[in-house]
Amino acid sequence: MRVLMVAPPGAGKGTQGALIAAHFGIPRIAMGALLRDQVARQTDLGRAVQGHLDRGELVPDEIVLDMVRQAFVAAAAAGGGYVLDGIPRNMKQARATYLIARELGMTANVALHLQVEDGELVRRLLARAALEGRADDTEAVIRRRLQVYHQVTHPIVAWYAERGILVSVDAMRPPEQVGREILAALEVMRPLVDHVPEEARRAIDLTSLGVAFGATPPASNTSG
Ligand code: AP5
Repeated sequence: MRVLMVAPPGAGKGTQGALIAAHFGIPRIAMGALLRDQVARQTDLGRAVQGHLDRGELVPDEIVLDMVRQAFVAAAAAGGGYVLDGIPRNMKQARATYLIARELGMTANVALHLQVEDGELVRRLLARAALEGRADDTEAVIRRRLQVYHQVTHPIVAWYAERGILVSVDAMRPPEQVGREILAALEVMRPLVDHVPEEARRAIDLTSLGVAFGATPPASNTSG
C-alpha cells in the first residue's frame, strides 16, 4: 500500500500516519519529524532549515525533494510500501514526488485528505503546545502554518481528485473513529489498487459516511 496524506497542521497526519504504517507494516515518511531531527542534531541541514520551521514557512523544495528521494529508495528496499506524512505541500512538490516515485515504480495508490475546520486545528495544536512545547506550536506560528496550507497546499487536493486517487475523510471526529474509517477504506481498496487502470480511477468522498463510523447524526428538524 502506498499512501500520501494532504491535510492541514493538526488534522492528524502524524496520528493516522502511524496507524496506517503499523497496520500495513510499511514505513512512515514524516517530513516534519525528519527536519526537526536535523535541527535537534544541529547538522548543517538543520541549521539551514531551522528558521523556516520556527516561522511556519515551507523549507525550500530542493531540500525536501532530496530527502524524499532518499526516503523512497529506503522504502523501495523495505518492500515498496509507504505512507507519506507532510509531503507534498505545493504543486511543485506534488509533481516532483510523482516523478521520483514513477522512476522507482512506486507512485501513490491513495492520496488521503483529512478534513478539519480551522478552529478545531488551532484548539488541537494549542492543547499539544501545553503538553509537548513544540517550537512552532505558538498561536502566531500556527496561524501562519494554516495560511500556508490554504494558500499553497490545499490546491493540490484537486490534482489528486483529477488523477482519481483522492480519498477524503471527515477528521473532525475522535482519532479512533477516523482511524477505523481510514483502515476500512484502505482494506477495501488494497486488492484493487495495483490493478485499476489510471483512466478508470475515481476520487472517493467518505465524508458523508461519518454516521456509520460513529459521528453524531445531524440534529433532525423538530419544528415541523
Ligand atoms: P509537520 O511536522 O508536518 O507539521 P504540520 O503539518 O504543521 O502538522 P502537525 O504535525 O502539527 O499535525 P498533524 O497533522 O501531523 O497532526 P497530529 O497527528 O500531530 O511540519 C512542520 C514544519 O516542517 C512545516 O511547518 C514546514 O516548516 C516543514 N515541512 C514539513 N514538510 C515540509 C515539506 N514537504 N515542504 C516544506 N517544508 C516542510 O495531531 C495534532 C494534535 O492533535 C496531537 O496532539 C494529536 O494527539 C491531536 N489529534 C490528532 N487527531 C485528533 C482527533 N481526531 N481529535 C482530537 N485530537 C486529535
